[in-house]
Amino acid sequence: MIDDREKTPRVMIAGTGAYLPERILTNAELETMVDTSDEWIVTRTGVRERRIARPDEATSDMAIPAAKQALEDAGVSAADLDLIIVGTVTPDMIFPNTACLVQSAIGATKALCFDLSAACSGFLYSMETARGLLLSGLYETALVIGADKMSAVTDWEDRGTCILFGDGAGAVVLKKTFTHRGIMATSFGADGSLGDLLMIPGGGSRCPASHESVEQRQHVVKMAGNNVFKHAVRCMTEAGREALEKAGLTIADVDWVIPHQANMRIVQAISDRVGIPMERFIVNLDRLGNTTAATVPLALDEGVRDGRIKRGDVLLSIVFGGGFTWGATVLEY
Ligand SMILES: CC(C)(COP(=O)(O)OP(=O)(O)OC[C@H]1O[C@@H](n2cnc3c(N)ncnc32)[C@H](O)[C@@H]1OP(=O)(O)O)[C@@H](O)C(=O)NCCC(=O)NCCS
Repeated sequence: MIDDREKTPRVMIAGTGAYLPERILTNAELETMVDTSDEWIVTRTGVRERRIARPDEATSDMAIPAAKQALEDAGVSAADLDLIIVGTVTPDMIFPNTACLVQSAIGATKALCFDLSAACSGFLYSMETARGLLLSGLYETALVIGADKMSAVTDWEDRGTCILFGDGAGAVVLKKTFTHRGIMATSFGADGSLGDLLMIPGGGSRCPASHESVEQRQHVVKMAGNNVFKHAVRCMTEAGREALEKAGLTIADVDWVIPHQANMRIVQAISDRVGIPMERFIVNLDRLGNTTAATVPLALDEGVRDGRIKRGDVLLSIVFGGGFTWGATVLEY
C-alpha cells in the first residue's frame, strides 16, 4: 500500500542561515541620541540592544552570507537553485532587485529572482509564494531570504520608532518532499485600507526623492505605534489559530512558536491569547530589536543552531507588518 505522504508533495525547510552586522547599538547609547531611557525602552518594548549595519553594508551584503550558510546547511549547491525570493522593504536600490544581486554573488545561474515587499510579513509571504511555485510542479528548490537594513530608513530623531529597529538577514532553502510533513497549513491576509498607519511615504512614484521630500522627512518610517499594536495582536492571534485549525493540530502539538518580533508586549499578548506559554516562543527581540523581514528566519536559525529546534518539531510562525499584511505558517521542521 502506498503511504499518502508518498503521493502528495509537500515543501520543507532543508537548511537555515543567518547574518548579523557586528555593531551593537545599546539603549544607553540611544539615551544620548533622543529623549528616552533604557527603563522606558525595556518596559514598553523589551528591546535592550540591536545590530546596525556599516554605512557601506547594504541589504544584499547581509543576505548573501545568510544565503551561503543556508545552502551549506541544506547541502544544496547554488547552481541547483530554481528560485530566489528576497522579502525586504530596504532593497539595495529600486532595481535591480536584491534577489538578482544575491544570485550573481552566489552563482545561482539558473534561478528566477525577485523581491517581495510585505514589510515585517515579507519572509513568511515569500515562503508561501515559494511553496506555491514549488507545488505547481515547475520548480524543485528555492532560496527564501528575509533581509532588511532598517537603520537606513529609520528616523533617528523620532524616539517613538528609532528605539525599535535593527538590521539583519536570515535565509532558508526550501525543497519539495514526499516523505516529510513540511509546511502543513497557512493562513494569510492583508488590509490595504490601514496602510497609512505604518509606512515610508517617500522614494516611490507618489513622492520621488527631491530636496523637499528630504526636508519633509518623507524617506523614513512613519508609524502610529499604538494603533499598529492593537491590529498586530488581533491579526496575529487569529492567523495563528486559523493555521493550526487548518493543519488539524492543537496548541499542545506545537513545539515552538516563532513570532515576528516587534514588541515583547505583542509577543506576550499572543502567548496569552493563543494559549501557548512564553517558554515555547523563540525570542531574539531583546538582542536584535525589530529586524522587519529578518525576524523570523533569524529566530528560526538561532533555535536550530542552539539545538532547541530539532527535526520533526512542529513550528508555528506568525507575522504582522505594514500594508497591513499578516500570516501564519505551521510546519514540521
Ligand atoms: C511604539 C511603541 C513601543 C510605543 O509604545 P506605547 O506604549 O504605544 O506608547 P505611546 O506611543 O502611546 O506613547 C506613550 C508615551 O510615551 C512617549 N514615548 C514614545 N516613545 C518614547 C521613548 N522612546 N522614550 C520615552 N518616551 C517615549 C510618547 O511620547 C508618549 O508620551 P505622552 O503620553 O506624553 O504623549 C508601541 O506602540 C509599539 O510597539 N507599537 C507597535 C510597533 C510595531 O509592531 N511595529 C511594527 C509592526 S510590524
